[in-house]
Amino acid sequence: TIELSLRPTTLNQYIGQHKVKENLKIFIQAAKMREEPLDHVLLYGPPGLGKTTLAAIIANEMGVQFRSTSGPAIERAGDLAAILSSLEPGDVLFIDEVHRIPRNVEEVLYPAMEDFFLDIVIGTGPSARSVRIDLPPFTLVGATTRAGLLSAPLRDRFGVMSRLEFYETKDLCAIVERTADIFEMPITKEAALEVARRSRGTPRIANRLLKRIRDISQVKGEAEISLETTSLALKMLQVDDAGLDHTDHRLLLGMIEGFNGGPVGLDTIAATIGEDSQTIEDVYEPFLLQLGFIQRTPRGRIVTPKAYAHFGINRQEE
Ligand code: ADE
Repeated sequence: TIELSLRPTTLNQYIGQHKVKENLKIFIQAAKMREEPLDHVLLYGPPGLGKTTLAAIIANEMGVQFRSTSGPAIERAGDLAAILSSLEPGDVLFIDEVHRIPRNVEEVLYPAMEDFFLDIVIGTGPSARSVRIDLPPFTLVGATTRAGLLSAPLRDRFGVMSRLEFYETKDLCAIVERTADIFEMPITKEAALEVARRSRGTPRIANRLLKRIRDISQVKGEAEISLETTSLALKMLQVDDAGLDHTDHRLLLGMIEGFNGGPVGLDTIAATIGEDSQTIEDVYEPFLLQLGFIQRTPRGRIVTPKAYAHFGINRQEE
């Protein structure tokens, strides 16, 4: 489907994340020269930056199968054993939300990663015994929002750790143009740049916004997506000039109006605006920190003068 073909399949097609790409290219080339599987790779960073895409690219570049699961889906050691023992030598196993593997299952993963075997206890009580299952060598690619969410023993078993960063506007602009091309929907340079500029450094957001802008442009009967239509669509979608959405606004205005800009604790903000605190921390906060709209202090989060200026609000003197 179009949806799937949006994802690049080689490192050369993958736009942005220059440092990560440069490193992976070398590690992949070296592993192939030695005819060994690639070392285990941990990809971490905010959602929507292309961790799953990169994992699939790694498999493709290594010329092996790509198998995919997620931490919460692996409930018991047996689930993991079933997946691992069905791999072909060299395969890439992608585990999304790798920090959410249950602790007792995680322990089974250590020898699998290190020496490619499983120690599985079968039965219970006096008849319980442990069986050793040899595994094909494989590459685990784990994804998580923050490396700090992993336990130290699991983190230590990844030979490659790559942090994905928010994309520069010029890279996002190239992604928007590539997506528009795949949709066979012409877009002006200014319009593509506007989508890029207002997508919070995140390809997933840029591509989602582009789809809605395309809808509006199509209904208007435009031959190409214009800047005017883009601005109108982003207004309809409640995306402001800096790319902030309705939830970012509730978050910042909640802190400004309810706590005079802080400092205020994460859980307090979360309860005030009725959002999940983990979602705020993993999804919304990273970009607001990067923009310099909030800061973390030992006493909680504070809204910066830059954010006040964005809203045209003056901070109340205490
Ligand atoms: N589509 C989404 N993310 C992409 C990326 N990093 N490079 C190319 N196309 C993309």
